[in-house]
Amino acid sequence: MQTWVIGNWKQNPATKREVEALLEDIVATIDSGLLDSDHKSRCQLMLAPSCIHLATVSSRLQNTSILSAAQDISAHSATVGAYTGDCSAQQVVDAGAAWTILGHSERRQYHQESNDSLLQKLICALSQNIGAVLCIGETQAQYDSEQTIEVINEQLQVIKSLLEQPLSQQLDLKHTLTERLIIAYEPVWAIGTGKVPTVAEVSATHEHIKQEIARFAPDLPLVTVLYGGSVNANNADSFAASSMIDGALVGGASLKAESFLAIAAAFS
Ligand code: 13P
Repeated sequence: MQTWVIGNWKQNPATKREVEALLEDIVATIDSGLLDSDHKSRCQLMLAPSCIHLATVSSRLQNTSILSAAQDISAHSATVGAYTGDCSAQQVVDAGAAWTILGHSERRQYHQESNDSLLQKLICALSQNIGAVLCIGETQAQYDSEQTIEVINEQLQVIKSLLEQPLSQQLDLKHTLTERLIIAYEPVWAIGTGKVPTVAEVSATHEHIKQEIARFAPDLPLVTVLYGGSVNANNADSFAASSMIDGALVGGASLKAESFLAIAAAFS
């Protein structure tokens, strides 16, 4: 089974020089044989740098087994237009990205990202043939009041809406979504806090996510679901042991080659 370990660098590192140093560290550690070819083929690695470093990172990763991704794309246009501050799906493809993260909780929190804008972003991504890692997850208050499933169901409505779009007929959506949709379950309260749900909790939530999407699209194979939130070199093995957890979306621990690749090894 294919697993995924994705580094979401967020607004890090501070400079291009530090980006290049981190990249060299990651590539050199892999080249030194940390992941053998069996491991590499089982676990797909991907790095999502900030937009300004996307072209640098993508160009360094050409001819390696690691993919690059944007952290977001514009909701307004898949191509060009008068949208100051935005980067289109076409532009991130041109910078070398094969995927984009969408709907990260930090974007939902600081940029009021809604299902409406996420639907537009998904359409833009798929129409430019890039994959989308759609992030969902509940806040601490929602977790405490046992609303996780309700929150997730509401956030997954965007996939239902996507399937109802006229675009669905144009793109071979079944094939497209099978290849180009990943869900990342990231409880907001676990991000950057060192707190994690139990593996049993994560597994049950992932099973629910897979079933919910299968309800919208019964003909699709079960969707890939990654866990994110304080994944590190010490706890990655326990998440990797669950058949419901198809990989990890990693923040802080992806900023050091050693911890990022230890997580990759756990999912290999
Ligand atoms: P941390 O791994 O730093 O908790 O961040 C998770 C995350 O938000 C990845 O998208």
